[in-house]
Amino acid sequence: MNRMRFLVTAGPTREPIDPVRYMTNRSSGRMGYALAGAARHEGHEVVLISGPTTLDVPPGVDFIHVETAQQMYEAVRDMVRDVDVAILSAAVADYRPVHVAQQKIKKSEGRVLLELERTPDILASMREEFSFTGVLVGFAAETQHLISNAREKLLRKGCDMIVANDVSQPGIGFGSTENEVTLVLPDREIQLPRESKEWLAMRIVEHALTLLP
Ligand code: C5P
Repeated sequence: MNRMRFLVTAGPTREPIDPVRYMTNRSSGRMGYALAGAARHEGHEVVLISGPTTLDVPPGVDFIHVETAQQMYEAVRDMVRDVDVAILSAAVADYRPVHVAQQKIKKSEGRVLLELERTPDILASMREEFSFTGVLVGFAAETQHLISNAREKLLRKGCDMIVANDVSQPGIGFGSTENEVTLVLPDREIQLPRESKEWLAMRIVEHALTLLP
């Protein structure tokens, strides 16, 4: 196999509310770091664009740290040229506060309303906005209708493969060391066994490489 260029997104994003507060989610980043490590282990060039995690960057991987969805969007846009395989596994925040307070919001009696707006959808920007023509792999974390939702995402976001993750099952997915996923391809589905994220990452990288033209 020739040396290919991989781009991987991982981890959560942090969307600031004021200088000391932010919105985020339970993503540990483990699946994405395992994917970056697996691709590197197979001898490929890897850039990992990640939100804040406690993980060590796999050796030999180029690393870009970001905080917000907007920063992740810009980093992907700037790095995507000449990439052969893009695996977008980050748990990007779907919403961010419309206004970021310049000073810490003081507490007072009564309720506070936080107005939120959509963040850019990085995966959905890959084909048209970023003119990406390589193998595109997305993730779908769902609690119901896993395969049909993943298949819809595959078509709508122009992906070649969706890694579908049932996050309603205890012990897998967000924050766990193990996962159980189904690879959803245009013409078939491949159910992988419950395994470590490192083992699954190797299978996902292998499958992605078979999709290269
Ligand atoms: O539509 P949904 O958020 O469920 O899609 C999940 C997939 O889209 C994941 O691959 C995730 O990394 C990607 N995504 C993204 N940018 C967003 C939201 C999701 O790249 N703003």
